[in-house]
Amino acid sequence: MTHQSAGRFAGKAVVITGAGSGIGRAGAMAFAREGAKVVIADVAAEPAQRTAAEITRAGGTALAVTTDVTRLTDVQRLMQQATQAFGGIDVLWNNAGVLARPVYQAIEETDVEDWERVLRINLTGVLLGCKCVVPQMKKQGKGVIINTASLAGLRGQAAGMAAYSASKGAVVNLTRMLATELGPFNIRVNAIAPGSVETPLIADLLRQNAGATPATEAMRVARPEEIAETVLHLAADGTGPLTGAIVTIDGGRSAR
Ligand SMILES: NC(=O)c1ccc[n+]([C@@H]2O[C@H](COP(=O)([O-])OP(=O)(O)OC[C@H]3O[C@@H](n4cnc5c(N)ncnc54)[C@H](O)[C@@H]3O)[C@@H](O)[C@H]2O)c1
Repeated sequence: MTHQSAGRFAGKAVVITGAGSGIGRAGAMAFAREGAKVVIADVAAEPAQRTAAEITRAGGTALAVTTDVTRLTDVQRLMQQATQAFGGIDVLWNNAGVLARPVYQAIEETDVEDWERVLRINLTGVLLGCKCVVPQMKKQGKGVIINTASLAGLRGQAAGMAAYSASKGAVVNLTRMLATELGPFNIRVNAIAPGSVETPLIADLLRQNAGATPATEAMRVARPEEIAETVLHLAADGTGPLTGAIVTIDGGRSAR
């Protein structure tokens, strides 16, 4: 992998939460390859350091900041460190997210504490990211925010996944509302809604479904790099009217 000083994101500062693994990690590598200075924020310190080290080894610029997106003080510190290190924040990608434990719970058996944990990470985490980055973006007179929602936030198909579906549905409409609120400040806000993506998050579920899944379904499992490519487009300059969009990346599942 070679890094270009003249890539699509040369000189831009990009903060990605949950970038120690899966989709966020692939995104960090992709932004770095295009010349961005990337801040790797993850509650898991070691994976974050690993992603940053890999980018640096390949000639890119990255900074790992251990961050729990549910803690206001962590997220404030993240934005401060990013701004200090790279002179501003051009892109924030609120990507950290989790499934419930256990993943599937009948509604009457919903563990309320676990429901609250999922909502805090998947929804409050997005709020805190936006709350803490917007003052800097307003000062700059521009910015881009991307939120990772899910197909499960657009449709009711994920039976037994109440907390996850509700949290991602809320991220969808928070994204739309923020596009309206922040449009006058030249801040674009979009969300991606992936279907199934091959990451550690759903590795167990994919393994359980292997064999039971028709080949055509299996083909729709995306690679994290394919999700990252869409996010790069959402973050790119020259896409001015692209805001308030929920971009499905699901192999056409939601189109049926
Ligand atoms: N994999 C899929 O099929 C799929 C589909 C649709 C949406 N998504 C969403 O994509 C996003 C990324 O998921 P992934 O599949 O790459 O999962 P992943 O488990 O590989 O990565 C998620 C990362 O988020 C981090 N994280 C968890 N809690 C955190 C917290 N409190 N603060 C900061 N970081 C935290 C984890 O440490 C991990 O590194 C999530 O929001 C997920 O809901 C995934």
